[in-house]
Amino acid sequence: MTRILTGIQSSGKPHLGNILGAIKPSIELSKNSKNDSLFFIADLHSLINIKDSKVRNENTLAIAASWIAMGFDYEKNYFYRQSKITQVCELAWYLNCFTPYPMLSNSHSFKDKSDNLSDINSGLFTYPVLMAADILLYDSEIVPVGKDQKQHLEITRDIAKSFNHNYGDTFIIPESKIDKNVQTIPGTDGRKMSKTYENTIDIFADEKSLKKQIMSIVTDSKGLEDKKNPESCNIFNIFKLIASENEVKKMKKNYSEGGYGYGHAKTHLLNLILDLFRKERKLYSELLQNPDHLYGILVKGEEKARVIADKVLERVRSKLGY
Ligand code: TRP
Repeated sequence: MTRILTGIQSSGKPHLGNILGAIKPSIELSKNSKNDSLFFIADLHSLINIKDSKVRNENTLAIAASWIAMGFDYEKNYFYRQSKITQVCELAWYLNCFTPYPMLSNSHSFKDKSDNLSDINSGLFTYPVLMAADILLYDSEIVPVGKDQKQHLEITRDIAKSFNHNYGDTFIIPESKIDKNVQTIPGTDGRKMSKTYENTIDIFADEKSLKKQIMSIVTDSKGLEDKKNPESCNIFNIFKLIASENEVKKMKKNYSEGGYGYGHAKTHLLNLILDLFRKERKLYSELLQNPDHLYGILVKGEEKARVIADKVLERVRSKLGY
């Protein structure tokens, strides 16, 4: 059994970029019977930015609902909220005391925002240590992450090695798994799809909002009759990520022949999304209508996760003499 751990940022509701870039590949990985997968919602990390508990809880529910709607088997695996396994905070403190200050001041997550130090809190500074605790608390072996998280994984490994060096084998040294095949998903303005850029396509939104987002995809100003270049078109570049080969070919042909407007292409994309995610959209909204049921699923996952966490933490405490 290989233990795989995936932390899910809870700073917003999952969009098409998250679904294609993270959710689907992680769920595929978790289906392998040789893997033991732990998925958690990083709702402690989100406190760095989100102070409104209502917003944070809505995000948590939306994330839980989308992973389940996309087919994550929460019974075979582990699905939990980071905040409910409070052992992680205790471990984070221990790890803090093995983390050299410059390691954190050099981390991108801090450096990128450090122009105005009075605007950032210490949570942002020690973010990588809490992340290390997330990983080490569960004896994780493989951590699939995006390129942006690679440095955090290196920090985790360094902290774990330093601890092991001092106290003998205590932590498993995790490996990062960076999937090179996962492309960047373009948003409605052609930049990377991200909540920050407000260019997302929220496949779980109601039809009206979804339509609005798709109609807002930025194009050049070619008219209906003009021949168009699919490769440089944002609509086509999103379409080709989810459409079948045949549909892609057809749309390419439409573009190159002319007489096919961007409005047509957008409608095509909207219908494809509605069609492709019909089952998932329905399941998602049913799940969200019953938050108690969703919380119940998480509570069960938390009971299982806590068993591992307690064991590992006990190992650490005894090494430290607590
Ligand atoms: N920092 C990760 C992100 O922004 C989320 C995360 C928190 C995480 N803890 C983790 C990912 C532990 C992997 C392992 O996406």
